[in-house]
Amino acid sequence: MSKLFIPVIEGTVRPKRRSIHAARLVHQVASELEDVESVLVDPVDFPLPYDGNDPESKNPKYTELTLKADAFFIVTPEYNHSFPGSLKRLLDSELKNYVHKPVAFAGVSNGNWGGVRAIEALVHTVREMGMVATFTDVQFPHVESIFDENGKLLDEKYIERIQRAYKELIWMARTLQWGRQNLS
Ligand SMILES: Cc1cc2nc3c(=O)[nH]c(=O)nc-3n(C[C@H](O)[C@H](O)[C@H](O)COP(=O)(O)O)c2cc1C
Repeated sequence: MSKLFIPVIEGTVRPKRRSIHAARLVHQVASELEDVESVLVDPVDFPLPYDGNDPESKNPKYTELTLKADAFFIVTPEYNHSFPGSLKRLLDSELKNYVHKPVAFAGVSNGNWGGVRAIEALVHTVREMGMVATFTDVQFPHVESIFDENGKLLDEKYIERIQRAYKELIWMARTLQWGRQNLS
């Protein structure tokens, strides 16, 4: 069976962001899965300036990567009970490349809820884009107690939680890949 290409998308460009530690861990877990190829998509590396003449300006690197993707894993912090504008801008820059592809979520917060409201808000958005949301979210509440300042993981049980999310995402990715290749 061919490898699945699953980009991991970090949600924010905030300079002191802690969610990047969670995104790096989600990416690292993918790199240890035999049937997955992954890349970390950091919005800092994917500038999407609005060109006055082209309100739909894209980032060619992101276009290529979404075209090739079999699935996505979005890692988002929660900002005012939703997800950051940087993530929305990145997601909005494409459309047809998402259709009939699954997406898994991890939420990150410094409070009790681990970004659940950001994930809930995202479900509406990805549905409109033609993606299929999985039900195996990973939550990182009190993120400062899960990673130290350098991003070192302090609680190993998150690895198993991420692996569980990938198991479902991979099942969905194979199923939808078959559908895209065999059904009109
Ligand atoms: C603009 C802004 C709004 C935030 N709103 C919320 C919120 O609604 N709920 C919450 O649990 N945490 C909120 N937080 C705190 C984040 O959970 C915290 O910054 C955490 O470290 C994850 O975000 P980060 O990747 O930016 O560090 C907010 C942070 C910022 C910068």
